[in-house]
Amino acid sequence: MHTPWWKKSVIYQVYPRSFCDTNGDGVGDLQGIIRHLDHIEKLGADVIWLNPIYTSPNDDNGYDISDYRAIMPEFGTMADFDMLLNEAHKRGIRIVMDLVVNHTSDEHAWFIESRKSKDNPYRDYYIWREGKDGNLPNNWGSAFAGPAWEKTEETGEYYLHLFSRKQVDLNWENPAVRAEVYDLMRFWLDKGVDGFRMDVINYISKAPGLPDGPVNGLYGDFVPHSVNGPRIHEYMQEMNREVLSHYDVMSVGETPSVSVEDAQDFSDPERHELNMVFQFEHMGLDEDEVYGKWSTRPLPLPALKENLSRWQTALHGKAWNSLYWNNHDQPRIVSRIGNDATDAMRIASAKMLGTLLHMMQGTPYIYQGEELGMTNMHFPSIDDYRDIDTLNAYREMTAQRGLSHEDMMARIHRHSRDNARTPMQWTDGVNAGFTTGTPWLGVNPNHASINAAAQVDDPGSVFNHYRQLIRLRKEHDIITHGDYTLLLPDHPSIFAYERRWQDQVLTVICSFSNDVLHEPAIAPLCKGKLLLCSYPAADDCRLQPWEARVYLCAN
Ligand code: NOJ
Repeated sequence: MHTPWWKKSVIYQVYPRSFCDTNGDGVGDLQGIIRHLDHIEKLGADVIWLNPIYTSPNDDNGYDISDYRAIMPEFGTMADFDMLLNEAHKRGIRIVMDLVVNHTSDEHAWFIESRKSKDNPYRDYYIWREGKDGNLPNNWGSAFAGPAWEKTEETGEYYLHLFSRKQVDLNWENPAVRAEVYDLMRFWLDKGVDGFRMDVINYISKAPGLPDGPVNGLYGDFVPHSVNGPRIHEYMQEMNREVLSHYDVMSVGETPSVSVEDAQDFSDPERHELNMVFQFEHMGLDEDEVYGKWSTRPLPLPALKENLSRWQTALHGKAWNSLYWNNHDQPRIVSRIGNDATDAMRIASAKMLGTLLHMMQGTPYIYQGEELGMTNMHFPSIDDYRDIDTLNAYREMTAQRGLSHEDMMARIHRHSRDNARTPMQWTDGVNAGFTTGTPWLGVNPNHASINAAAQVDDPGSVFNHYRQLIRLRKEHDIITHGDYTLLLPDHPSIFAYERRWQDQVLTVICSFSNDVLHEPAIAPLCKGKLLLCSYPAADDCRLQPWEARVYLCAN
């Protein structure tokens, strides 16, 4: 059986702005990534996904690209990039780039042209509409608060932006746009990059007529009419045929709102689209209908079990899962569903959450700092935040939707994207060793105890637990190939499952409790060799707080 490399890989996500600054300007850079390649190599990850490093006015930290073929000057030069690629490859580490082609910056040359006049050759690169009865063309709200339309002086027409007004949606109906995208993909692939993570790629096909969406809050929801739209699979197949199929690379689609059925379509190898997608259902379990992600609802364990198990079962043998808890858009998982109240609980719950995810089928993603058990950051003032989504939501929720300052700050402490974006904690020294200048976003003061220097050589650290998880994946093919069955489905605080493959059974037992659990029901599951335990000793009928174990036995 041929197994593609990305099915055996573990991916480490680097958010360059917050990883390491080598020139003292307070912003991370490409040389900073080179400096810390040893960290990633020691962990055992074999692919790096880089968040966007292209030229950008940084309205949304690089997700608003003004030149797809140039490096953001704050991050370095193309020579730095070539060096990074070379240094990574020398260590056997591949590099996957972010491909952001649902939208460009409003400062991209195509848009500068497009807005000039209705007959400009680039007009049709974007989605322009006239207003309707003196109003906006439809009722859609943007993902970052406010309407999804912006009027320009030059022609009096509106352009569509599903994100900020500086992130203008491209018109994928136009074959010239698609040809441009395929061309820029080839530019990077010909340089030797190893694939793409495709930003909101399932947003690129919009429903004809752009109908109004159901109103939720102040605006209509664009999702029913611009996510997984009518031509999405046609575009994905074309991109695969034109570009991806000519290279030995991986592709992962960022696909909010996908169902398992959609994911099967995107990543069924017979359909020649993508290798895998990021699903969002498990990240939405603590959302509510009124405030969306800014909810105060806890993430319920039964729903998490149901969700992850359904994805494991539905994609097995048909498509491929990506496995993640964290990225630059999500709060830190140890603060979200683990317990960061004490150091002991934080370490235990970080190890458990890593184990739960990494023993599943799919390709695991580790977001920088997750391997240290980094936590959310509670900045005291709204002025300490930098994230456009957080700042816009704060304004809308407090000025227009009646939430008090205190209430919204508490929600921001739970869910802001800046929770994930505080600088990487390398040392207990000044600015956590991230920069000698003033960091672009505040450093979490807990770097005094949570930092890489303290963990790398400590066998009991979260870092070394993650390292073992990666080693197990490399050593035991059952983790890649085995099927999945949920065990103890109704247990209120244990998430256990088994994987079966050939003549082996791998059993994973994880506790979500702050207390020691006396649980005779786990005794029959504790069979075979104990491959990994997050505590020094394992007891057949008891689980320590947030304990995780992995057993392997012959069937
Ligand atoms: C998803 C990216 O992960 C996020 O950071 C960004 O704001 C939006 N897409 C828009 O590009």
